[in-house]
Amino acid sequence: MNAPVSLKVNPDLQTVTQVTHWTDRLFSFRVTRPQSLRFRSGEFVMIGLAGDNGKPILRAYSIASPAWDEELEFYSIKVPDGPLTSRLQHIEVGQPIILRPKPVGTLVHDALKPGKRLWFLATGTGFAPFASLLREPETWEKYDSVVMMHTCREAGELEYGRQLVADLRDDPVIGELIGDKLQYYPTTTREQGPFMGRITDNLTSGKVFADLGLEGPLDPVRDRAMVCGSLAFNKDVAAVLEGFGLEEGSNSAPADYVIEKAFVGDGV
Ligand code: A2P
Repeated sequence: MNAPVSLKVNPDLQTVTQVTHWTDRLFSFRVTRPQSLRFRSGEFVMIGLAGDNGKPILRAYSIASPAWDEELEFYSIKVPDGPLTSRLQHIEVGQPIILRPKPVGTLVHDALKPGKRLWFLATGTGFAPFASLLREPETWEKYDSVVMMHTCREAGELEYGRQLVADLRDDPVIGELIGDKLQYYPTTTREQGPFMGRITDNLTSGKVFADLGLEGPLDPVRDRAMVCGSLAFNKDVAAVLEGFGLEEGSNSAPADYVIEKAFVGDGV
């Protein structure tokens, strides 16, 4: 009689419960949440699939759902020859994915000093941690107002965020908490739209303040910021924020703004 070959169940396997394709390059999906997993809204975990050789292919993904949600949501790019996303984009409801339940990250409320107005600055799939933080009651309890700036090349890429913000306002619990505190400022850079331009430019020129009727410019006494996008974007926004006198914070030394790199581009 043959002994069973490694019938050990992988404790890190979760099941896909929903998949939504937003464009030919963007999709979101939901998976079951391990009962033991606790995280702070804005953190990320490693998720992935078993590779052909049986070894897991894992990447860091911001959790797009809030800490109170029963499931976990993720928002991803599709890279045709990306080691993970070339396959992840084809996942279907009922299929397993690997999730290492060790959440970490700096886009958390604990890493910011108290302030009045909070800026969420995202490009592309960098919207994901803010999809979590926008649904986090602490966001609305701690700040008088929140400005969500999201910039993509084309309008279709803004749709996940646009839908999420619309649903938020209609949500009986979160909608009530938000009241009139949320200003949403989606812009495109390569397709004509109602609002256009890079986040860096719209902050330095003052356009976002003028368009939304907000008091400007950024002020370290009043303003806090969380940033998530490509490496180049993060670097340039940091310089803009520093130019206005904001200082970078971390879990161990809270300050005025925090940064996380979204997984974009090659190797995903
Ligand atoms: P742009 O079209 O002017 O390059 P990407 O898809 O390349 O990650 O870009 C996503 C969005 O972020 C685009 O709208 C892009 O504007 C903008 N972006 C890219 N790099 C920067 C940067 N260094 N500073 C500000 N915005 C940027």
